[in-house]
Amino acid sequence: MTDADGPGAVKVQRVRWHPVVDIDALQRAAFERILDAANRAIAARGQFLIVLSGGGTPRGVYAMLRMAGTDWSCWQIYFGDERCLAADDAERNSRMAADTWLDHVPIPGDQIHAIPAERGAQQAAQDYANTLRGVGEFDLVLLGLGEDGHTASLFPGHDWGVSPGVPDTLAVFDAPKPPPQRVSLSAARLSRAREVLFLVEGESKRDALARWCANADIPAGTIHPLAGIDVLVTSTLLIPPVSNH
Ligand code: 6PG
Repeated sequence: MTDADGPGAVKVQRVRWHPVVDIDALQRAAFERILDAANRAIAARGQFLIVLSGGGTPRGVYAMLRMAGTDWSCWQIYFGDERCLAADDAERNSRMAADTWLDHVPIPGDQIHAIPAERGAQQAAQDYANTLRGVGEFDLVLLGLGEDGHTASLFPGHDWGVSPGVPDTLAVFDAPKPPPQRVSLSAARLSRAREVLFLVEGESKRDALARWCANADIPAGTIHPLAGIDVLVTSTLLIPPVSNH
């Protein structure tokens, strides 16, 4: 991916890698970065717009945030993607975030903007695009990395919504990671952020990480906020596996 001025040019993704020793260190570092971003945004603009990631990796971070000392009335919660399941299904990203964190802190209910994925991918994508209309740059976007290089619900072989003018949300069908129907923010909308923080851990991510480092064309590589991105990653994943021959 090379940088050149003008439309149609492919962009460089500026990546700052932050190796940490293990998942506990990753969660602590993520907790501190989220609170730091919140304090700065609230001091500057009176509110903090954060986009949450789904999956398992952020779960521990969300649990830690229950104890955070912050003005919760200033937090606006959005989701980067959602699984088209019933609203109270435990596999929903919104349910996971609520159970581990949001149900335990006084964020006003109308400031938690879940994706209405129970309505089906097409309708929910449309409705969430309406929710995002008029919402400016996010202060912080949290993202994960899948084994195949996906992030949010932007999967290889599907539309990633990279080019300018694409819709803010995408209806996803036949997703390789269950459930098959999902809603995702587009790469372009996820990139409209002051900060983007990836949380990456687990041996299963080693291949995707190696391809990312080699600038392979994977969804995670299409997130281009102006300020670049930060990746908290368990350091063992950055060390080439020891070949035993
Ligand atoms: C989802 C997520 C997805 C996730 C990655 C990593 O709904 O599944 O949004 O993009 O972040 O698959 O998942 P883990 O953290 O569980 O490895």
